[in-house]
This record gives sequence, structure tokens and C-alpha cells, in this order.
Amino acid sequence: MRRCGGSCSARTSDAIVYRPVVPLSPVLRATATYPFVRLNEAAAARRARGLEVIDLGMGDPREPTDAAILQALRDGLRDRMGYPAAVGLPELRKAVARWVERRFGVLLDPGAQIVPTLGSKEAIFSFAQVVLDVTGGRDTVVVTEPGYPVPGRGAAFAGARVVELPLHEEHGFLPALDDVPDGLWERAALVWVNSPNNPTGTVAPLASLERLASLAREHDFVLASDEAYSELWFDEPPPSALQLDDLTNVVAFNTLSKRSSMTGFRSGFVAGDAGLVAALKQFRPNLGTAPQEFVQRASVVAWGDEEHVVHLRETYRGKRDLLLDVLGRKGLRNAGGPATMYLWIAVPDGETSEGHAARLLDAGVLVTPGRFLGPSGEGYVRYALVPTEQECVRAATILEEVL
Ligand SMILES: Cc1ncc(COP(=O)(O)O)c(C=O)c1O
Repeated sequence: MRRCGGSCSARTSDAIVYRPVVPLSPVLRATATYPFVRLNEAAAARRARGLEVIDLGMGDPREPTDAAILQALRDGLRDRMGYPAAVGLPELRKAVARWVERRFGVLLDPGAQIVPTLGSKEAIFSFAQVVLDVTGGRDTVVVTEPGYPVPGRGAAFAGARVVELPLHEEHGFLPALDDVPDGLWERAALVWVNSPNNPTGTVAPLASLERLASLAREHDFVLASDEAYSELWFDEPPPSALQLDDLTNVVAFNTLSKRSSMTGFRSGFVAGDAGLVAALKQFRPNLGTAPQEFVQRASVVAWGDEEHVVHLRETYRGKRDLLLDVLGRKGLRNAGGPATMYLWIAVPDGETSEGHAARLLDAGVLVTPGRFLGPSGEGYVRYALVPTEQECVRAATILEEVL
């Protein structure tokens, strides 16, 4: 008889599902299947039937990484690679500081205000653990929805009360700060903003970041600005929270994943308030998530070059214009803003976001139902402009027929 070290139960198309017999974390048990897993399963089922799927679902860029960055990665390999230090290589912190100065006109102290991260996801997920003080009355983490689920999930695993502020079109997809529940700021340990925003593509003006930062100082919470898409813009370069006059209680998270098509490298940074960066330097050695040294060396080259970013942006612009053209001609409304690799498209009257996405998948185009990204995402679908230009042309042809 086969032993599976747990109870083997349901069987999906290609795998047995194992369920442990131990109780597990209630937060984990309450966590629904990560929405993209459901999406990928639907696409896989279609592919298994030999049918075409053009994947505009998950935001994993498929554009090649620049050759000079790849070369720096290879050159960074040594006969023996020791543990990387959590504070990162001084060269990398300096390269990030130079980029921040070039891009945002802000001088940061690379020794005190920057810490590299293994991509930004792990840092976003774990940040609540650094600032939450449940017994001290700071038990709440505020996130926006629809949105990237990781800040909320990380907060829940840290034991926080998670409050979601909705992003509505009539409010420019910005949180309505005047409508927050009474007492929210007093219980908040951490408030997340994400601009340019996934999924809406909206750019928060510096004034709105300024307002949140003064609330953070007034009420003693931390403002965390997730700026993963700051370099994918199509009108003017979006501002950063790092440009605020006072960085007290403010940190920004950025990454090479989208800027330089380097998702697989896992390389990002947190920068801002020196006291918070010091807290991260104390916390992060516990995690073991310092980027590998060869990745850090490749990252020095990536942050130092802007030419490949300009090229990448133009590639996204081409794909964006192509799909917006067909969607517009078919009467679908682009509700989204001028940045990110996403299109946020209103679904036709009478259809749900899931129903509309299912109709497109039946024709071979995979998009994300807005509902998967939060209740206020109902009424929209998200197109991730990640397939190659050629695949996007094919997607446009399918959309032309099916819409
Ligand atoms: C809003 C947002 N922030 C952060 C990330 C994390 O990116 P990475 O961990 O690759 O740096 C993503 C990834 O999709 C994202 O959409």
C-alpha cells in the first residue's frame, strides 16, 4: 500500500491533493486558493485539450532581460558563494541611491536609508511583522482593493486586523480618505498604497501621498508605498513617495521585476525613513531573504542603465496601443490609468467580470476577472500585457472576432 504522510484525498487532473493531518494555521486554512492558481488551472485544462491560450492573466513579463545584465550575473559567479549579508552589497545600495537621485531627484544615504530585498514580494509580505504591535493597540493594517493580495495576506499571517479601502472609479481609483471608519488611523500600524496601481493603472499624485504621509505622522502609523510599476508609464514619469519633503514614517518598495523584466532574478529594495530601514536590517537576517550576491551584482548593472528600460517601455506601449485600439473599436471602455503593464477594462453591461473572462477564455484569451482582485474589481477585467508582440497581435485578432 502507498503511504503519503498525510491524507491523500481528491485527485485533480494530474496530481493527488495531500491534506496534512495536523491542524495548520487558521489563517492558512481561511486563505482561499490564490486566485491566479484557479486561473492557471482553467488555462491548463484548455491547453490539455490541445487548444490555444494567449495568457494575459498573470503579470510575469516575458520580454528578455538585457544582455549586459545577464553577463553581469554570469560574471558574479564564484567557486564558492557564501551566505549573502542581509544589508546587501555596498555597491548595490549605492547603485540604488544613484538611480533614485537620477529618477526622482532625491538624495538618499545608501548606508542608512536603503536595504535590498529578494524581489519585493517577500518584503511586502513580511513588513507587517516589523511594525505591528497588537497588544499595544496597533493591530491594524490598511490595504486597498482591488489590489495585489500580498500586503493583506502578509498582514493576516502576522495576526493583524486587515481593513480594505475600496478603490472606485468615481473617486479616480484613489482611496476616499475622508470616508474611512472612525478610529481607523488610531489602530493602524501600517497603511499600504500602490501607485502606479495594479490593477487599475492609476497614478496617485504626489499631493495624495503627501496627505497620507501627514496622516501617518499625525497618527503614528507607517506609510508603505509599493512602487513596483513606477517605470512602466505612458504619459509622464509617476512620482515616488521618496520625493516627499519629510520621509519620517514613510518607506517605498521597488523592484527590478517589471522595470527590467527580471522577475526570476528576485531583486528589489526598500528605502526611506532611516529608523524603519534600521528596523528592517534588524528583522531581515531572521528571514534569510538577502538576494544572492551574483543577483546583487547583476542588479548594480540593471539600476545603472536606463536605455533598456526605455526600450521595454516602448514595447509595452506598442502592445497597449494595439489592444486598446481593438477594445475601443468594439465599444469596450478603458477605465484604467496611464501606467503599469495592465489594462483595466470595463465589462459590457449585463456581464460579470468572471462571465466575461470565461467568454474570452473560451476563445483562447486569458484575462483576470476583476473580482479575483477584490470585491470592488467587479465590473472590470484586467489584461496583463505580458505576451510577446506577436501573441498580442493574435489576441487582437481573436478579440476582433469574439467581442
Ligand atoms: C503591486 C505589486 N507589488 C509588488 C509586486 C512584487 O513583485 P516582485 O516580488 O517581483 O518584486 C507585484 C508583482 O506582481 C505587484 O503586482
